[in-house]
Amino acid sequence: MNFTLLRYDSIDSTNLEAIRQAQGGADEGVCVTAGRQTKGRGRHGRIWVSEADAGLYFSLILRPKLETKFLPLITLMSAVAVFETLRKSGLNPDIKWVNDIHIGGKKICGILAETSETKKGLAVIVGIGINLKSTSISPELNDSATSVESETQKTIDAETLMQMLTRNLEKYYTLLEGENGAGAILEEWAKRSSYFFGKKVRVTLENEIVLGTTCGLEENGALRVKTLTKGVRIIQAGDVEMVRKI
Ligand code: BTN
Repeated sequence: MNFTLLRYDSIDSTNLEAIRQAQGGADEGVCVTAGRQTKGRGRHGRIWVSEADAGLYFSLILRPKLETKFLPLITLMSAVAVFETLRKSGLNPDIKWVNDIHIGGKKICGILAETSETKKGLAVIVGIGINLKSTSISPELNDSATSVESETQKTIDAETLMQMLTRNLEKYYTLLEGENGAGAILEEWAKRSSYFFGKKVRVTLENEIVLGTTCGLEENGALRVKTLTKGVRIIQAGDVEMVRKI
C-alpha cells in the first residue's frame, strides 16, 4: 500500500476529512492526521475529546476487496495493528472486544471504522485515537482511561508512533486481504485479547443486558457469549464490560 499523509493543525474530525477525501476519489492508503480535532467522533455518537497534541488522531482510507460479510474484520485487524504498535513502545496492552485497547483495565485507544459509498466503490475509514498525554483524558474518565505518557513515564514521539502504526496497519491489512485472511486475523486477534475466551462479561444491547462468559468469535468477528439460561448468544455490536460475577 502507498501511504500519503495529509496533516492538519486543527480539523473537525480526521474521520470526516477522510470521508470527504474518499468521496473526492482519494486512493486506498491516504491518511489524515491532525494536531487537534474540534468534533472528534467516538462510537455510538459519543464525542472523542481531542485537545491539541494530547493524542494521536489518525484516519486511514481503505478500499477493501473483501467479501461484505468479512468487512467487520477490518476493525479487528486495526486493533491488532495498534496492539503491536503499543507493545513495541514498551506497553502491555489487551484488546477489549471488539476494538478498544486497554492497559491494566484502562482504555488507551479507541477505533471508529466508518463506511462511505463513493464513485470508486465502498471506502472504509479506520479512525484511530491514541491517548498520548494525560491531558487527553477528561477528569471524570481518570479511573477508566490512561495514556502512553502516564504508562511509560516518557514523552512519546508521536511521529515515530505514527510510522510504526502505519507499518503495522499495512502488515495486518495485507494479511487480511490475502488467502484465508479472515481466519488469520481472527487468530491474531485471539492471541492478543483476554476477552476471547472465558471472560465474564455484561453486554449492553439496545433493549437488553446479556450476562455470560465469552467463548470465542464467529467468522465475522462477532462475540460468542455463553449465558446461564439462553445458550450461546452471538453479539454483533454492543458495549462489553468485564464483571466479577455473572
Ligand atoms: C471510540 O469511541 O472508542 C472510538 C474513538 C475513535 C477516535 C478517533 S480519533 C481519530 C478519528 N477521528 C475521529 O473523529 N474519531 C477517530
